[in-house]
Amino acid sequence: MTDTALIVVAAGSGTRLGRTRAGRPVPKAFAEVAGAPILEHALRGVAGLGASIVLVVPSGFEADASAIAARAGVRAAVVAGGATRADSVAAGLAAIGHARLVLVHDAARALTPMASFDRVLAALRAGAAAVVPVLPVVDTIRSAGEEGLGAIVDRSSLRAMQTPQGFDVPTLRRAYEAAGDARAASTDDAQLVQALGEPIVAVHGDELAFKITTPADAARAEALLAQEAGVAEQATPAGQTTGGAAPELRTGIGVDVHAFGGDGALWLAGLEWEGQGLAGHSDGDAACHAIVDALLGAAGLGDIGALVGVDDPRFAGARGEVFVRAAVALLAEHGWAPVNVAVQVLGVRPRIGTRRDEAQRVLSAMVGAPVSVSGTTTDGLGAIGRGEGVQAMATALIRRP
Ligand code: CTP
Ligand code: MG
Repeated sequence: MTDTALIVVAAGSGTRLGRTRAGRPVPKAFAEVAGAPILEHALRGVAGLGASIVLVVPSGFEADASAIAARAGVRAAVVAGGATRADSVAAGLAAIGHARLVLVHDAARALTPMASFDRVLAALRAGAAAVVPVLPVVDTIRSAGEEGLGAIVDRSSLRAMQTPQGFDVPTLRRAYEAAGDARAASTDDAQLVQALGEPIVAVHGDELAFKITTPADAARAEALLAQEAGVAEQATPAGQTTGGAAPELRTGIGVDVHAFGGDGALWLAGLEWEGQGLAGHSDGDAACHAIVDALLGAAGLGDIGALVGVDDPRFAGARGEVFVRAAVALLAEHGWAPVNVAVQVLGVRPRIGTRRDEAQRVLSAMVGAPVSVSGTTTDGLGAIGRGEGVQAMATALIRRP
């Protein structure tokens, strides 16, 4: 992907996060979350991208930034940023060399999943000159001015902008030149391209691409990263010591299969995916259903059919999450708690591996214990190999004190 450059802007001061060290303000990207600078988390997230990376940091932090990049396993050119975000992007743009496409990304969106990068790149490669990942706005929004509060703005007409934003390099260069000094007020690169009269293409953003801005955002990032570390530790028996008397342990296994052909969206492993959905009375999330059977089986509490009548109208189209949470609650009523779950998805699409971290986070939050996710194709053999549906297999370990 040598035709693609990635500019990571990390030159902001982090006023709203407000971290200090020895009485001095710490630039946000160098503030630590879950034991590492925000910049390190951001760079770990892009290590697999294969783009040539330009890192824009506050003047004087170049050496620190190089050391952080080395720890994160990425090679990056490091340049000093400017007084505004746009100045920092411009500094990065001057350092990308001959790339044809460029992604501009906030270091502060340190947990952005690879799937977001993939969606933006796919739209760029399909010919768009400017691509932004967006999310619907969830809060009710009201305008405000000196006179106080104004009218409510219809939120269905609003979108929140995220990064990475993707551009054809000549277009972004033209936009920055045309904006001149007026760029100082812009915190959104696509806005400058739009000012040229160029169309902007929107793709799905991601909840996990939230910008670490306030201390509450940092706490959220910390919790998500801690959960991930828990998944990584899962293979270590020491991570499962309980102290005191040995608990009762049991394992269970679950399998589920759904065919493509649903009229709803494609849900798998707790995530929504592009493409045709899976058929089923519920949302057809085979990974969640396999996890439910593994958990219930381990506790000797039957299977998903016992949990909810399979045709129960209350569960028509229900998310896999509803069943997983119901299973965990039923286990708890019997004194059981999950220790860990492993789930493997067999199928041609979607490619689970592209969003593994995200799936693990989402599923771990549902189960309340580490869930690891793996995927495999079946070498083209059988109905699953022909892409007619998806199969999932899960094992669960549960404990009772
Ligand atoms: N940024 C930058 N150069 C600037 C200002 C911002 O590179 N002069 C980067 C930040 O490092 C961040 C991204 O742009 O990754 C988004 O900016 P924001 O979240 O506003 O970060 P800060 O400006 O650092 O935070 P604050 O506004 O709270 O001071
Ligand atoms: Mg700022």
